[in-house]
Amino acid sequence: MGRKTVDRKLDHLNICLKEDIGAMFKTTGFGDVDLVHMALPELDLQEVDLRTSFLGAKLEAPIMISAMTGGNQRGMKLNLTLASAAQKLGLAFSVGSQRAAIENPKLARTYKVRSVAPDVFLVGNLGVPQLTHGYGVAEARKAVEMLDADALSIHMNPLQELVQPEGEPKYRGGLAKFAEVCRGLSVPVIAKETGSGLSADVARRLVRAGAAAIDVSGAGGTSWAGVETFRAKKRSRLGITFWDWGIPTAVCTAEVASAVKVPVISSGGIRSGFDAAKALALGADLVGVALPALRAASLGEKAVVEFLNDFMTELKAAMFLTGCKRVRDLQEAPVVVTGRTREWLLARGLNPDKLKGARKS
Ligand code: FNR
Repeated sequence: MGRKTVDRKLDHLNICLKEDIGAMFKTTGFGDVDLVHMALPELDLQEVDLRTSFLGAKLEAPIMISAMTGGNQRGMKLNLTLASAAQKLGLAFSVGSQRAAIENPKLARTYKVRSVAPDVFLVGNLGVPQLTHGYGVAEARKAVEMLDADALSIHMNPLQELVQPEGEPKYRGGLAKFAEVCRGLSVPVIAKETGSGLSADVARRLVRAGAAAIDVSGAGGTSWAGVETFRAKKRSRLGITFWDWGIPTAVCTAEVASAVKVPVISSGGIRSGFDAAKALALGADLVGVALPALRAASLGEKAVVEFLNDFMTELKAAMFLTGCKRVRDLQEAPVVVTGRTREWLLARGLNPDKLKGARKS
């Protein structure tokens, strides 16, 4: 059992580093979102301040490196590289699913990054499928203690379980187990998807169950149906057919931000600080970045720091050009939503011209 989890994670890592596993035709929707240029920003670029707080912690910028890896030597190296970059830049960081280390405690060391990231807001990770297969508060506590984590994220991945040859698409009882874990932990729990998006309705149910934050992880970025299609020895029709399944990230960001009062992380295909600026303007409090950070980490810490510095420069540029000094100003800045994303929002019951009014107070 443990061995299989480890092998699978290594396959995922290799495929994500080598293959084109982005959405095929679907986009995040950020291409349909425009910020309104302000020719008189009435501030100097150097005044733009990315600092923010998240679940009681101070961050230098509203950015989290999303859950990806651990459980093997390669993952350990990548985790240390990413965590160390997060420490240098004052960003949040999440390890990948700790299931492998719960199954085989010898693997715990492949997730431990506190030595290089003493001050980082550090997030552990488990999945709802583990909860519906017997994991509970005890395992969740183990995951948190293993890392000395500040929070635990619990992912939902029904699409991946469906397409994965050895997947376990069993979600019955998931919400009740999620609630049990939220009640039993002393750290906040972040509920996250893995690239197919969370709707307002699901986000509300998760918050009622005790989620302290929601990471929408929408469609348009990394496709897990795509990753599993590459992995399957026999090409899976299901994986190809559902490659682009999910709620575009811009849509779920807007709808979840308008539906819940807890912090919202926008992730899934966030590829630049400009995308991040749009996500924040749609109501997100933080953005999450997975694949581009992983690919940079495979080149070393310098590459991660460079990528994230460029990302922050872009975010600052967008804030300067919209006259926003602080992240909360950007959250109030006007957005223009056109095209397919506008249609999506209308179909979902949101007025694309009044997103600000719909936002949580
Ligand atoms: C992931 N993701 C993920 N999520 C999670 O909650 N637990 C996990 O173990 C993993 N593992 C994982 C491995 C790799 C190699 C990648 C690329 C991603 C999903 C990730 O956190 C994120 O939600 C999606 O990848 C969407 O973001 P990007 O990649 O489009 O920025």
